[in-house]
Amino acid sequence: MFDENSLIWHNGEYKNWRDATLHVMSHVVHYGSSLFEGIRCYNKESTGPVVLCLQEHIRRLYRSAKIYRIEIPFSEAELISASLGVVQKNGLQDAYIRPVVYRGYGSLGVDPGENTPVEVAVAAWSWGAYLGESALKDGVDACVASWQKLRPNTLPALSKAGGHYLGSQLVKMEARRHGYAEGILLDANGFVSEGSGENLFLILDGRCYTPPVSASILPGITRKCVMTLADELGLSVEETYIPRDMLYIADELFFTGTAAEITPVRSVDRIDVGNGKPGEWTQAIQRRFFDIISGTAGDEYNWLTPVSSFSG
Ligand SMILES: Cc1ncc(COP(=O)(O)O)c(C=O)c1O
Repeated sequence: MFDENSLIWHNGEYKNWRDATLHVMSHVVHYGSSLFEGIRCYNKESTGPVVLCLQEHIRRLYRSAKIYRIEIPFSEAELISASLGVVQKNGLQDAYIRPVVYRGYGSLGVDPGENTPVEVAVAAWSWGAYLGESALKDGVDACVASWQKLRPNTLPALSKAGGHYLGSQLVKMEARRHGYAEGILLDANGFVSEGSGENLFLILDGRCYTPPVSASILPGITRKCVMTLADELGLSVEETYIPRDMLYIADELFFTGTAAEITPVRSVDRIDVGNGKPGEWTQAIQRRFFDIISGTAGDEYNWLTPVSSFSG
């Protein structure tokens, strides 16, 4: 998956992949003190590669850092440029871009103090479908995870922090072990929250529901795109608490995320969602989303930044 001959932007310069390293005594290795983004780049016929919602992702990275009182020693514009740069310099087309901010080598106090630098890297590599090639077309089987989402006053779910993904790892590994593609977490009050790396939408009796940010979700950028598209298609989305049993009687269910894109869920805990096939609304939203990204339709909402706008 990685091309070790490519370049990584690290603390302000482009380095060879193998030289973009950190020390084992870095704060992040011991305490999970990192923040990151996952961004997609799509090859668009007319303009070449375009990055989806780049500004929004970088803005969320800064918000993640602000919550954890981490000061990023670069501007948003510099990280936007680095994100485009790693795609262009590595000659990538369909790719995944991974900016990461972390506490580096200095002190190993839980309180990092003044002597622990904040470092930043941006890498990119070629990427295809996340939940399997057939997932987008046929849907995936999901389960309700035995692990719950953290309470809002335990860790801040609005921050996309590396340490939070220890929980996601447990959920994903458990789901796979039991033959599912993904696990769905309930929040601390027992309501549906999200997948290990995706937001969730549910359609029942012609109405669309998604958990609110107060259900310990990561405020997904794809979630926001989907809300815009659903609205445009005449389906208004209600942000509301969803009880677990609603998953079992849903007509349609789908995951959204940079990695998962818009992936239908065909069953939950081995109970078919609707007739076990991707539903009409799911497919309509998927179609509109991919039409915009591929350039078949116009970029009406200014979601796409051409990599060719990179100016060194
Ligand atoms: C826990 C979690 N929820 C939701 C999402 C979806 O967010 P986005 O659409 O911004 O990728 C992600 C992926 O980043 C995630 O890791």
